[in-house]
Amino acid sequence: MMDWTDRHCRYFMRMLSPGAILYTEMVTAAAIVHGDADRFLRYHEAEHPIALQLGGSDADWMAQAAARASEYGYDEININVGCPSDRVQSGQFGACLMAQPDIVAGCFTAMQRETDAPVTVKTRIGIDDNDDDVFLRTFVDALVAAGCRKFIVHARIAILEGLSPKENRTIPPLNYERVYRLKRDFPGVEIVINGGLTDSAQVDEVLRHVDGAMIGREAYHRPYFLAELEQRFDSTWTIPSRAEVVETMIPYIDRQLANGVALNSISRHMLGLFTGCPGARAWRRYISEHAHRAGAGSEVLINALNAMPPMPRADTMHGPVTQRQDEVSQ
Ligand SMILES: Cc1cc2nc3c(=O)[nH]c(=O)nc-3n(C[C@H](O)[C@H](O)[C@H](O)COP(=O)(O)O)c2cc1C
Repeated sequence: MMDWTDRHCRYFMRMLSPGAILYTEMVTAAAIVHGDADRFLRYHEAEHPIALQLGGSDADWMAQAAARASEYGYDEININVGCPSDRVQSGQFGACLMAQPDIVAGCFTAMQRETDAPVTVKTRIGIDDNDDDVFLRTFVDALVAAGCRKFIVHARIAILEGLSPKENRTIPPLNYERVYRLKRDFPGVEIVINGGLTDSAQVDEVLRHVDGAMIGREAYHRPYFLAELEQRFDSTWTIPSRAEVVETMIPYIDRQLANGVALNSISRHMLGLFTGCPGARAWRRYISEHAHRAGAGSEVLINALNAMPPMPRADTMHGPVTQRQDEVSQ
């Protein structure tokens, strides 16, 4: 998620979920072809399985970017056909490309030629007035004919003019049925649903209809959700307590700090770790007040743990919480 996630965020998420496929925020093909590719492409080995998301519509640039990504060993390369922002429309990429399936199919073919990793597509269920099954099917058909076998579908349309990107993630209504029908129309194609998934029961329900679920905002705001899901799907996995997750981050943070990374650029992703637990506010407040200070090191996180009330730990730091108590009490 642009402006929110980065490699530090993904490393942290990986500590919470060994199995989830982690997606990068969108990187434009131009940034990789003409910019500092290493800055956008490097990641920690622990982040696997990891998908790079590319934005663009120029098949040649997309292919060059895919080739570079392939050198870095990405497990999947994803084409963004879902982002509605003006900036992105002007560059001819994102959701507006749903109306130009041939262009996306051309990018797909050129990219897949350059990499052994599967090239996949993230899309919406429609754009503007094109809010019907035929439009979505026509788009998917063109990509399937080109060889694409995996789609992540954000289950709402994008309104390309008049709504901000943020509004485009809330105002157009979610329509999971449309995604379920897409799966029925393309049974041999992997369909991953996205949009508005915030609890395990919902994820269970959508997985009765489609092959996978992508979680965006809830994973960022309440990262422990990923651990709860991981445990649901892999009962052999021992869910770490939140404190243990913090501890596993310390050596990583120390190494990053030694390389000149600021504590805040890692700890900002960890603010939601205790969401749903008593003490969540104390955790957030301590980090927010201390992590940006000059010389701040990983001890800030240990101190933040200690700043939390000791009372609830036995209950809330080991295992999933069922009630979002900080929302109730604060
Ligand atoms: C701040 C922010 C940045 C986002 N950036 C991207 C992006 O770079 N690429 C993308 O495909 N989707 C992006 N999205 C959309 C999410 O991936 C997801 O499709 C959307 O938030 C709906 O899923 P959710 O309800 O689980 O969050 C972004 C969302 C947010 C909130």
